[in-house]
Amino acid sequence: MVRRAGGTGSLLVEEAPDPTPSSDEVCVEVRACGVNFADLVVRMGLYRSAKQYVGWPIVPGFEVSGTVQAVGANVARYRPGDRVIGVTRFGGYASRICLPEPQLRPLPAALGFAQGAAFPVAFLTAWYALHELSRLRPGRVVLVHSAAGGVGGALVVLAKRAGCRVIGVVGSAHKVQPVLELGADVVIDKSREALWPAVERAAPDGCHVVLDANGAETLKQSYAHLRPTGRVVVYGFHSLLRRGSDRLNVFRALAGLLRVPRFNPYEMVDKNRGVLAFNLSYLFDELPLFGEAMDDLFGALERGELRLPPVTELPFDNVGEAHRLLHSGGTVGKIALVL
Ligand SMILES: NC(=O)c1ccc[n+]([C@@H]2O[C@H](COP(=O)([O-])OP(=O)(O)OC[C@H]3O[C@@H](n4cnc5c(N)ncnc54)[C@H](OP(=O)(O)O)[C@@H]3O)[C@@H](O)[C@H]2O)c1
Repeated sequence: MVRRAGGTGSLLVEEAPDPTPSSDEVCVEVRACGVNFADLVVRMGLYRSAKQYVGWPIVPGFEVSGTVQAVGANVARYRPGDRVIGVTRFGGYASRICLPEPQLRPLPAALGFAQGAAFPVAFLTAWYALHELSRLRPGRVVLVHSAAGGVGGALVVLAKRAGCRVIGVVGSAHKVQPVLELGADVVIDKSREALWPAVERAAPDGCHVVLDANGAETLKQSYAHLRPTGRVVVYGFHSLLRRGSDRLNVFRALAGLLRVPRFNPYEMVDKNRGVLAFNLSYLFDELPLFGEAMDDLFGALERGELRLPPVTELPFDNVGEAHRLLHSGGTVGKIALVL
């Protein structure tokens, strides 16, 4: 639980009464929860939908896995003891959580709890960016920034599944091989070579889609490297935070916000390029679309069709360490807290 915005020291483990499910809910005994970069932003008090839907105090967490402990009167699909994966708009860092039935899916037999908990947020985010916003077709050139990360890895996997040519960008050498193993055709390590000349060599005619969660650091050039019909999908601004620090540097964040490029619709029409942006936490209100994404992803997961990014498991009480690892910018794949 986080009672007020701060560094990793503001993450508190507290006791609370067990929740009981309403008639349409399933109560899950949590065995693992996924940790996302957005949780750091929630903890720092900068996540707008957290303020909108919860306020302080808040239990962060968007994804869990575990066993069903109890079900409401209208729930037919699950029974106590079933292994499930759930997505939630906050509250996932808890030992028990009640979720509406549509936010759950069975945990495939081949997956452990940590792998299951690490799956939905990254893949739902990537699915929405690629299938709803990007209209992928085979052969399209897709550039993925931070390709070794949770969402980045899922973007690589889903873009390859759609038959695209994928260029991954990573910030350090140890991330190159894992991204190649996820299926990327080219990986650019921007710590070793200049990013944009390397992109121009890999995609001489420009990119159809660029997935960018960096913010001001790359957004302008991401747009400049689109080909006609291309689009940049913006889904985060992680360069507003300082790598390795769990504290908000207000001046850095403000300076970063001022550097976010403005896009001119007249020029966008003229160049035939688009800029799209989204936040998954509002997708919970779009039930048919949410269901379509869940069905596609969980069907593919169950059939073993998706390569999954690696998952680092940490004991639940090491939640501060999990956040510090994500702040470092050096992680590969996902982190899951295991109860
Ligand atoms: N819009 C949405 O609905 C939505 C949903 C989920 C996630 N997101 C966003 O997607 C991004 C990725 O999330 P994730 O959970 O999958 O994290 P992640 O990619 O596993 O970790 C973040 C990565 O960002 C890069 N990075 C750049 N600046 C950084 C900084 N100041 N501090 C730490 N890392 C930095 C690092 O990779 P490199 O150095 O290799 O680039 C790092 O590995 C985040 O910005 C998150 O907020 C958005």
